[in-house]
Amino acid sequence: MRLTVDGTTHEVDVEDDMPLLWVLRDEIGIKGVKYGCGIAQCGACTVHLDGVAVRSCQTWAVDAVGAEVTTINGLGTPAAMHAVQEAWTEHQVAQCGYCQSGQIMQAASMLAAIPDPTDEDIDAEMSGNLCRCGTYPQIRAAIVTAAAKLREA
Ligand code: FES
Ligand code: FES
Repeated sequence: MRLTVDGTTHEVDVEDDMPLLWVLRDEIGIKGVKYGCGIAQCGACTVHLDGVAVRSCQTWAVDAVGAEVTTINGLGTPAAMHAVQEAWTEHQVAQCGYCQSGQIMQAASMLAAIPDPTDEDIDAEMSGNLCRCGTYPQIRAAIVTAAAKLREA
C-alpha cells in the first residue's frame, strides 16, 4: 500500500491491519514515534492523520491510505520549528523525553482546533498523554506559550 508520511510517499508491503505505529517505526524507520503501551492508553505513539491526533498503535495501516500522516519528524525541522516545538524548547519541558513526541503532536493538534484553550481544555485534551517523569506543569506552560505564538502568527 502507498502511504504519505511527512510529505514523502512510501510503498510498503504490509497487512491492512498492521498497526500504523509498526509501519512507521519498523518499515519506514521513523523512531521519533514511540511505542509505550500499545493499547491507546499512554499517547506515546501519537501522530497526525490529516492534522488530527491519533494513536498510531490503534490505527491500522489501511486507515492511513489516502491521508497525510505527520510525525514529529515532519511537524517542524530544527531550522524551522513548529510553534509547539519552539515553546517546548523555551520551557525545557523534556526530561527523559520518551513521551514527548506524543505530547507535542497532541498539543499541536489541539491548538489547531482550539486556538485559545482554557486550563480545562488543556487538561481534557492532554489527559490521554502520560508522562512518567511528571512534566505536566511544563507541558501546560509550553502550550500556553505556543497558543499565544500561533495566534500572533
Ligand atoms: S503506545 Fe499508543 S497509546 Fe500507548
Ligand atoms: S519526559 Fe519522561 S516520560 Fe515524559
